[in-house]
Amino acid sequence: MDQIVSQDVREIELSLIVPTFNERENIIPLLERLESALDGISWELIVVDDNSPDGTSNQVREIARRDHRVRAVQRVGRRGLSSAVVEGMLASSASTIGVMDADMQHDEAILPQLWKAVARGECDLAVGSRYVQGGGMGDWDQKRQSISRGATWLANLVLKTHISDPMSGFFVISRRAFEAALPNLSTIGFKILVDLVASAPQPLKVIEVPYEFRARNFGESKLDSAVVWEYLVLLADKLFGHIIPVRFVLFAAVGGLGLFVHLAALGLALKVFGLSFLVAQSIAVLVAMTFNFNVNNFFTYRDRRLTGRGLVYGLLSFYLICLVGAFANVGVGTYIYDANITWWVAGVAGAVVGAVWNYAVSSVFTWRK
Ligand code: GDD
Ligand code: MN
Repeated sequence: MDQIVSQDVREIELSLIVPTFNERENIIPLLERLESALDGISWELIVVDDNSPDGTSNQVREIARRDHRVRAVQRVGRRGLSSAVVEGMLASSASTIGVMDADMQHDEAILPQLWKAVARGECDLAVGSRYVQGGGMGDWDQKRQSISRGATWLANLVLKTHISDPMSGFFVISRRAFEAALPNLSTIGFKILVDLVASAPQPLKVIEVPYEFRARNFGESKLDSAVVWEYLVLLADKLFGHIIPVRFVLFAAVGGLGLFVHLAALGLALKVFGLSFLVAQSIAVLVAMTFNFNVNNFFTYRDRRLTGRGLVYGLLSFYLICLVGAFANVGVGTYIYDANITWWVAGVAGAVVGAVWNYAVSSVFTWRK
């Protein structure tokens, strides 16, 4: 230890986390900009890449071989901006942590100001904001501007600390504040700042610094309709997550939808194809399970989505789990019905037990972390 400390190495003052997906072309220009913007500050850069097909991880590693301030964290089999940022933060060392995008839409020129405010203890969190005096949206079209404003308004319903731009992915936070929020984080989706602020056990002291959101030079935005969906799931989790896991609610909702699919398939098999009830019901069960599996794979477990061979094994394990779940459902339902309790109470109890079983076991075996 003494030997390490005695070397002429400056303590790292800022750990910068950059989540990436297909940003290969942006890495070198970003580094060049950071190099000049962070002149005089001792920093490290951790790029958390979700195994981008364009080879972003390799690009970062190539630089890291020569520049020891730079590191790549390559994640395989997972997707998600928020969880990438959290893993980067956990892999970093400075007492002050910054987060920014790789595509240079965030103005690195205000980084020193954000860093200083936190490092000097003037605040726990310094946010780059498009919505305070002097900031701007850049050349966003009317539609994206309205979506962003709507999302901002929704966020401030959930947050106890008012922030003009909670959608921002450009901020500096003290490690202390990050660690205090860590146990409560949902790490769902795109909006890590909303998550951090909502998860803080005590209201954070926040400073906002204006900047103009720039246009993207290379690559494309990853914002799609699923991101909007995940954002709503995040807000729901922040509001009710301590009472009931949002994933379970989604899983149960998909199950409810599956019931309609089941009835449609059953009707079709009986009325159109004239099959016997036993055969028709069996086909309907298979159709509904397959439907539920795919919808859950697409929405409920978007962050752990199975593909290729994993999809086949996942589907088979899901069939098996649901089969056992169905036995549990019928067993519990019959037991309660036999105790002379109203039929619908027995039915609901069976369904709840089956759903909880399916959810709990498939979250461990089918969509394991
Ligand atoms: N590791 C990882 N995994 N990184 C991701 C993922 C993912 O699944 N999805 C996106 N990223 C990375 C991108 O590569 C980029 O560096 C950054 O996260 C932001 O993604 P963009 O796709 O460029 O987002 P945007 O420009 O549409 O949205 C931005 O909107 C806010 C303003 O409302 C967000 O990125 C915010 O940071 C920004 O302030
Ligand atoms: Mn962007």
